[in-house]
Amino acid sequence: MRHAAVLLVLVLLGAAPAAQDAGRRPIPPDQVQAAVARADEAIAELQKTLVGRLKEELGRGGPAAAVTVCRDEAQQLTRSIGERHGLEIGRTSHRVRNPVNEPRGWARHWIASWAGARAADAKPATYELDNGRLGVLRPIGTMELCVMCHGQPEAVEAVIGDVLRESYPDDRATGFAPGDLRGWFWAEVPVN
Ligand code: HEC
Repeated sequence: MRHAAVLLVLVLLGAAPAAQDAGRRPIPPDQVQAAVARADEAIAELQKTLVGRLKEELGRGGPAAAVTVCRDEAQQLTRSIGERHGLEIGRTSHRVRNPVNEPRGWARHWIASWAGARAADAKPATYELDNGRLGVLRPIGTMELCVMCHGQPEAVEAVIGDVLRESYPDDRATGFAPGDLRGWFWAEVPVN
């Protein structure tokens, strides 16, 4: 107990991490704010774009058509929005459908710690990464619209089962109810 307390004090005084952080300069708060604002702009655009395409396709061809938007367009739309905003961006979760969306290393701990939470409780986060970049995480809630593809497995299966089984044999992104934390938007933004 004593040792733990002494160690904690050293860490709080900055004694322990000093060597590993030597040479790093703090990022001025206004630059952090500007970078986070750029991340949020890109995230808002990504959300609007994906939900917009989803609704469009649902109206045109129902869930069977809409699932191909998520499967065939989501990755490309995400990449091009990132490029336009000069940052990297994506969607992730503690339970992903597409393994490509597994959380990046810096985000893993935060995302695991919120697994199973209600979306309204989940807190956003900002991380200082290497090479003067910031990592930003924003929670994504499950809406009514989402459960046809992310809700109870039997219900999802009945609507779009074949496509999911064939395209995502390791799908872990079912079993969500409205209000559940479905996942996270993430962004890696250069600070300048
Ligand atoms: C028509 C089916 C469908 C609907 C409706 C749908 N999704 Fe998805 N979702 C998918 C597919 C397919 C993927 C895999 C896309 C990819 O390859 O990145 C996916 C991926 C995701 C991911 C990325 C993490 C992962 O699991 O791979 C998130 C986050 C997500 N969906 C959230 C939502 C939310 C929030 C809604 C409601 C607004 C929603 N989805 C509605 C089919 C759907």
